[in-house]
Amino acid sequence: MEKLNAVLSGELMKAFESCGYDASYGKVSVSNRPDLCEYQCNGAMAAAKAYHKAPFMIAEDVVAAMKDSAIFSEVQMVKPGFINLKLKEEFVASYLNQEAEDEALGCANLGNGRKVIIDYGGPNVAKPLHVGHLRSAIIGESLKRIGRYVGYDVAGDVHLGDWGLQMGLIIAELKLRKPELVYFDDQYTGEYPKEAPFTIGELEEIYPEASKKAKADEEFAAAAHDATVMLQQGKPGYRAIWNHILNVSIADLKKNYQFLNVTFDLWKKESDAQPYIPDMIQMMKDKGFAHESQGALVVDVKEETDTKEVPPCIIVKSDGATLYSTTDLATLVEREKLFAPDYVLYVVDKRQEMHFRQVFRTARKTGIVRPETKLGFLGFGTMNGKDGKPFKTRDGGVMRLEVLIREITDAVYEKIKENRTVSEDEAMKTARMVALSAIKYGDLSNQASKDYIFDVDRFTSFEGDTGPYILYTIVRIKSIIHKYEETVGAAGSLAGTVCAARSASEKALQLILTRFSDTVELAFTETAPHRLCAYIYEVSNAFNKFYHETRILAEEDEAVKAGYISLLALTRRVLETCIDLLGFEAPERM
Ligand code: ARG
Repeated sequence: MEKLNAVLSGELMKAFESCGYDASYGKVSVSNRPDLCEYQCNGAMAAAKAYHKAPFMIAEDVVAAMKDSAIFSEVQMVKPGFINLKLKEEFVASYLNQEAEDEALGCANLGNGRKVIIDYGGPNVAKPLHVGHLRSAIIGESLKRIGRYVGYDVAGDVHLGDWGLQMGLIIAELKLRKPELVYFDDQYTGEYPKEAPFTIGELEEIYPEASKKAKADEEFAAAAHDATVMLQQGKPGYRAIWNHILNVSIADLKKNYQFLNVTFDLWKKESDAQPYIPDMIQMMKDKGFAHESQGALVVDVKEETDTKEVPPCIIVKSDGATLYSTTDLATLVEREKLFAPDYVLYVVDKRQEMHFRQVFRTARKTGIVRPETKLGFLGFGTMNGKDGKPFKTRDGGVMRLEVLIREITDAVYEKIKENRTVSEDEAMKTARMVALSAIKYGDLSNQASKDYIFDVDRFTSFEGDTGPYILYTIVRIKSIIHKYEETVGAAGSLAGTVCAARSASEKALQLILTRFSDTVELAFTETAPHRLCAYIYEVSNAFNKFYHETRILAEEDEAVKAGYISLLALTRRVLETCIDLLGFEAPERM
C-alpha cells in the first residue's frame, strides 16, 4: 500500500514538473501549523535559488496547476512561497478504507525476514528480579514486537547472568550452612539429588547475606572466589549446585516475566558462551589483534575520531580470568554460528555504554561479526523515585519487581472497586491489566535514554498521558461498538466503510489514523517505542474530542452511523495494535 506522504508528494511533484520545475521540489510534509493547514510543501523556497525566481511566483504556478486536484480541497500559496494543503474528505476516507483492508494497516515489510536478536532482560540468576531489570524487559519486549510487525525475524534472548562471582558466593555460603551436603564431599561419586537443597526464598536470602559477608570477611571472599574458579573449571559437585540454582531461578524468573507479559525465545546464558572462548582467544592472538599489556591480553579499539578515551578491550586479566567483555564477545561468536543474525540489538542500562563500544569495536576488528552485521546498543536511563534518586522501597531497600507490581495492582484495584459492577474476580483481572499498562506506558512514554521518575499516582491516573487513559479510551470504543452490535447484529459493525468526515474533529481523527504505519516503522528504525506512546495519546485525544462532539449512536441516518462505527472500529484496531506492540492489553470493561 502506497504511503500517504508518497501519494501527496506524487501530486505535487507532477505539478512542479508540469510547470517546468524539477519534480524533486514537490515533497510534502505534515503541517507544523495544523491551525492553518494539514500538509505543506516548502519546495518553492528551495526551487527559487535554482531558477532565480521569487519563491511565491513558483508556488503560484504550482497552485494554478493543481486547481483540479482530486486529492486536495485546498492548495494555497502563502508568502514568501509556502504551499499550504488541505485534503479532500472523500480522499482521506478512501485512504483509510484501504488501510483498514490491509492486514498490517499499511505498514511496510522493512525486515523482509532478516534475522534480529534482541538481547534484553539480562537478569542474574539467584538474585531476585528487581526494578533495575524492569526497563530492559519492558523496552526490549516492545522492540521485539515492533520488529516482528515490520517484518523482521526477531528472537528475544534473555541472556542470563549465570557465570560470575555470585555463583561462588552462594556455593561458599551454602558450604558454611550445610557442610554435610553431598556436593561438598570430594569422595562422593554417586548421582546428585534431583531436588535442590534450597527454595527460591532461601536462595534469595543466601545471596545478599553472602555478598555482605564477602565485603567484611576476607577469608570468606577468598573462598567464594575459589568456588567460582572451581565451578568454572567444572568441579562436579559445584556444577550440580549451579544447575540447581539455575533451575530454581529460571522457574521464578519465568513467573515474574509472565506477570509482565514478557516472553523470550532464547533462554541462553553467559555460561553457554564459555566453550567458544579458547578458540576465540587463539584466533585473536594468531591474527595479531590481541597483545599483552601489563600481563593482561587486550585488543586496542581506540579510533582517531574519538572525543572520549576508549580504553583497550581486556580479553584475559593478568590473573588468567576472563571477563564480562570476553563473555559478550564469545556470545557473538556463538550467535554468529547458530543464527548468523543481520542485527544484534542490546537493551541494557546506559551506564554500560563503554563496555558495548569496546565489545562492538573488538567484534568488528577481529571479524567475529560480518562487516554488514549491525550491532546496536540502546542504553536506557534510571528509573527514579519521586525524590529523584534510584527507585527504592519505602525503607530504602532494593525493590523487588514482584512487590512493585503488587503495590501498583492494589492501587489500581482501590480505584476501580469504588464503582465496580463486575465480580471480584473480574475486577482483580482488570486491575492487573490496568496496572501493567500504567507501569509499561509510564516507562515507554519516555525516551529510553532518559532517566524518569516512577510516579505511581500519575501513572495510574485515568486522565492525561497515561496507560490507563489509553485503555479507558479503548474500553469506551468497545462499549459503543457493542451497543451498536446489539441493535444490528455482530456482523453489522464490520460491514461498513469509513465515510467522508462531516466535522473538523472527525477529520482530525481520520488524519491521525493515516499516520499509523509511519509511526510504527520509525519506532523500530529509531529504536523508539516512545513514538508509539505519543501517537496513541494523540489518537486517544482526537477520538475523545470527536466522541464528545458527535452523537454517534443517536445519529438518525443509518449510513452515517455505520460510517462512524467503521471509524471507531479502525480507531480501536489501531490502538489495540499499538498497545500490543507496547506489550499490554485492554480489558473489556473498566
Ligand atoms: N546481567 C547483566 C547485568 O545485570 C546484563 C546483561 C546485558 N546483556 C549483555 N549481553 N551483556 O548488568
